[in-house]
Amino acid sequence: METKKKMRILSGIQPSGKLHLGNYFGMMKPALALQQQGEAFLFIADYHALTSVADPQVLRQNVRDVALDFLACGLDTSRTVFFRQSDVSEVVELSWLLSIVTPMGLLERCHSYKDKIAKGIAASHALFSYPVLMAADILEVQATTVPVGRDQKQHVEVARDIAVKFNLQFGETFTIPEPVIRDDVAVVPGVDGQKMSKSYNNTIEIFGTEKDTKARVMRIVTDSTPLEQPKDPATCNVFALYKLFASDIERAELEARYRVGGFGYGTAKKALFEKLWTYFEPFRKRREELQKEPAYVDAVLKEGAERARIEARKTLSAARRAVGLE
Ligand code: ADP
Ligand code: TRP
Repeated sequence: METKKKMRILSGIQPSGKLHLGNYFGMMKPALALQQQGEAFLFIADYHALTSVADPQVLRQNVRDVALDFLACGLDTSRTVFFRQSDVSEVVELSWLLSIVTPMGLLERCHSYKDKIAKGIAASHALFSYPVLMAADILEVQATTVPVGRDQKQHVEVARDIAVKFNLQFGETFTIPEPVIRDDVAVVPGVDGQKMSKSYNNTIEIFGTEKDTKARVMRIVTDSTPLEQPKDPATCNVFALYKLFASDIERAELEARYRVGGFGYGTAKKALFEKLWTYFEPFRKRREELQKEPAYVDAVLKEGAERARIEARKTLSAARRAVGLE
């Protein structure tokens, strides 16, 4: 009889800049919600960030910031193994073993690589082979479930393909992971209406200052429908963001005000700012407290690394045996 595998959740985020609403609703919130349902691993992908962060001092600071952000947003250290990728360097060896079964074509098809090159980022080997390292992140803990925003779906599929190929060629070694993408928050728009992203300079930060957050909300691009005319909430970036914070009733109320007219985008932006600012208030408080306890944050990451390492060593050893290195 086949026994159902226990859910093991894994996700990671690059410490490549200040975290924003897209990161929060696309990845952090769903991942933090899943920690109640199974064993979770969350990590700070600092090896990955090296493909875009060139200043060592900035990288160190970003790692600290992301650690504080996650802990402040509700990461429960009694349920979730929270660690820094480079503290579990086994992942790099595993990624080499995986690269043996990774066809060039699989990586060449990756949108994220193609997009980065199109944006003028130099085509380094690290950037190209990034999905193999990401596959190693996922497979090293034998994850079943990977919560991510839609832009990462293809990378999780690459991890699945690699795992299937490795298992076929060398015998059952890896669990095949599934991406989990929540449709309602799959792509959070930025202030310009494009996908919100650190690299597009269109973000609203989770932990920005009040002044900066307000200014960014006020910058959200809207159409030029005059104040008195009815407006379409479905095509409005302000409404798309408001929806993320509002209850069903609040959403219906704002929707009705859009449709009636006599209601300006400035008012909608104020409502969004108020909601957003109140929503993150408890997280901001917690973050301020945590900031005063760097030793605690270090201890959490150290303990997380030790636990993740146990899993990584087990998997790496199985993979080494499978290919004939042991
Ligand atoms: P960025 O594009 O800002 O560099 P990352 O690539 O570091 O963001 O993404 C980290 C996580 O947040 C990923 O799981 C990604 O899918 C999710 N994410 C990022 N931006 C968005 C967005 N605008 N909408 C939904 N999810 C997002
Ligand atoms: N590539 C992901 C991003 O840019 C971060 C990441 C690295 C990740 N390894 C992962 C996400 C493993 C999920 C699982 O957002």
